[in-house]
Amino acid sequence: MFGSASSLHRLFLSIIIVYAKLVLGSASRCASFKPPDLEGVALVGKTYFKANERVNITNLYSAIDTDTLPAFCRVELVITTNATAKSSANTEVWLPDDWNGRFLATGQGGLAGGGKLLTVADLGFIAVKQSFAGVSTDTGHSSNSNDGSWAGPGNDNAIVDFGWRALHLSVVAGKEVVRSYYDRSATKSYYIGCSTGGRQGLKEIQMFPNDFDGIVVGSPANWMSHLQSWSIHISLNVLPPTSPSFISPTQWNDVIHPEVLQQCDIIDGLADGIINDPRLCPFRPETLACSPGQNTSTCLTLPQIHALHRIFATYFEANQTYVFGPYYPGGEAAYTNGLVGAVPFAIPQSWVQFFVLNDTEWTMDLYNASVLRLMEEVNPGQADAIETNITAFAGPSHNGKILQYVGWADQLISSGNSIHYYETGGFGANAFGGAGQAASGMPPLSFDPEHNILAALVQWVEQDQAPSSLTAAFWNNNSVTAGLNFTRPLCLFPTRLQFAGGDPNDPASFECV
Ligand SMILES: *[C@@H]1O[C@H](CO)[C@@H](O)[C@H](O)[C@H]1NC(C)=O
Ligand SMILES: *[C@@H]1O[C@H](CO)[C@@H](O)[C@H](O)[C@H]1NC(C)=O
Ligand SMILES: *[C@@H]1O[C@H](CO)[C@@H](O)[C@H](O)[C@H]1NC(C)=O
Ligand SMILES: *[C@@H]1O[C@H](CO)[C@@H](O)[C@H](O)[C@H]1NC(C)=O
Ligand SMILES: *[C@@H]1O[C@H](CO)[C@@H](O)[C@H](O)[C@H]1NC(C)=O
Ligand SMILES: *[C@@H]1O[C@H](CO)[C@@H](O)[C@H](O)[C@H]1NC(C)=O
Ligand SMILES: *[C@@H]1O[C@H](CO)[C@@H](O)[C@H](O)[C@H]1NC(C)=O
Ligand SMILES: *[C@@H]1O[C@H](CO)[C@@H](O)[C@H](O)[C@H]1NC(C)=O
Ligand SMILES: *[C@@H]1O[C@H](CO)[C@@H](O)[C@H](O)[C@H]1NC(C)=O
Repeated sequence: MFGSASSLHRLFLSIIIVYAKLVLGSASRCASFKPPDLEGVALVGKTYFKANERVNITNLYSAIDTDTLPAFCRVELVITTNATAKSSANTEVWLPDDWNGRFLATGQGGLAGGGKLLTVADLGFIAVKQSFAGVSTDTGHSSNSNDGSWAGPGNDNAIVDFGWRALHLSVVAGKEVVRSYYDRSATKSYYIGCSTGGRQGLKEIQMFPNDFDGIVVGSPANWMSHLQSWSIHISLNVLPPTSPSFISPTQWNDVIHPEVLQQCDIIDGLADGIINDPRLCPFRPETLACSPGQNTSTCLTLPQIHALHRIFATYFEANQTYVFGPYYPGGEAAYTNGLVGAVPFAIPQSWVQFFVLNDTEWTMDLYNASVLRLMEEVNPGQADAIETNITAFAGPSHNGKILQYVGWADQLISSGNSIHYYETGGFGANAFGGAGQAASGMPPLSFDPEHNILAALVQWVEQDQAPSSLTAAFWNNNSVTAGLNFTRPLCLFPTRLQFAGGDPNDPASFECV
């Protein structure tokens, strides 16, 4: 009797589960779905994609072209951000049929409007692929990630939308859309973003601590005023290309980088071309000084050595206030694509021109300390996300969780990641489910919490099990199609990775010390 009651109960449970899956989402639900009547939120598009149907969406902001996604309903919204100014943001909510009950917002890159590999790409490759209901917004303007001209000068509402407003309003609207589509609210709410996306995540928890239960912050550009000042400072150390302190890409790649490895690669126990913690590297460029008559593409001149010292040093104001930095030894190949190439990264100058000084004639060689002060003062769109009191998010009343990662060899944001890092940033175990990674062909080895930062965060939020490390993958040429090279642990700050002996391709051969 008892036994059969129990199996009946089991049968009942499995019927409920099957039924629940059937009604969660479907082509007909998508077709008949009307979002709730929310003030300032207009439905502008709705498309159902069957499992493994081709999803090929390219717009100015973002691109995805794949036939590997499970079935979902794509809902496109326009959200009014300031009715007086008639400003608005484009926002999408992607609703998988086989929903895991969770909400996930994704962020942007640079000054986008969607970096090419973000927004719809992360909605597909991160949210829908892992059964989250996903939301993303263009933050209220159209541009690629390096173009700041949309800001005006003086386009105040667009700047505020970029700073914080469009994402918050999108999260609020997105949650309502999710609730009405599935007839229940999401159980937990998450965020994942990198670079500007990292900044947006930090801004959210500082301003709207109840929006999320857990956030993944990748290489945040969260101190815009100091970051842009430092970027200009680094570029001015070598520019213009005719300057005696300019260091050619050949010198960075073939002279400086090999010498950095020579001096520092073994410090972590393994000479493998990867500097696991460059803080331990007391790099001395003097060993590369040219001797009289030496071909200067094989050595460094004195002005170049002096420039290198400034580049590898933290940047302080004349009054000894910390600004930002430094570039760390080890990422030389990437740095020439960042701030020290002949054509430096565009955003720092653009930021001063369009957001701060409102002077499109301004060029970075005019930089002086008063510009830094002005950047702090104007703080366009309240973009600086530097509030250190995050008790409202992380304290006992909310108990929110943050997993933050940075790349030592980042060429745009010191000790941080960047919009270009995963495309150009040399080699190292750099695939672990972060924003933009799967979209650029570098998915995590698996979606489990050991290899995938979002799953690790979910486990922490929902089972109170904090990660102790993650195992990241290095795909050859940063592309899954070129095959796995090795996997390796990522350590919790402030620990660092040390080789303990054994097979270097086995993560168990390393420890975090
Ligand atoms: C995706 O769309 C673009 C045009 O937007 C087209 O050039 C490309 O061939 C499409 N990809 C596939 C696989 O159909
Ligand atoms: C909305 O835009 C108007 C016109 O630009 C501006 O005066 C007002 O301050 C803005 N309101 C908010 C809340 O940003
Ligand atoms: C530039 O314009 C913005 C508004 O877009 C304003 O906040 C800022 O103060 C202006 N900068 C200067 C130097 O006047
Ligand atoms: C200096 O070295 C570079 C790179 O090795 C080479 O291309 C160049 O021809 C050399 N210049 C002279 C004057 O030998
Ligand atoms: C510093 O730069 C600002 C903006 O270009 C300029 O107005 C100011 O005159 C400069 N100050 C000095 C001391 O050069
Ligand atoms: C030093 O310079 C920074 C950056 O410009 C400024 O914020 C700070 O107030 C200055 N500190 C002092 C003591 O003058
Ligand atoms: C930090 O934030 C909490 C919650 O918002 C507030 O109660 C507390 O007073 C703040 N602490 C400080 C030192 O400002
Ligand atoms: C990586 O790219 C290089 C240059 O394009 C190519 O020569 C090499 O074969 C690629 N390696 C793999 C494993 O695909
Ligand atoms: C692993 O990657 C490194 C750096 O790109 C490369 O030199 C090496 O040949 C790769 N090894 C294998 C087994 O693919």
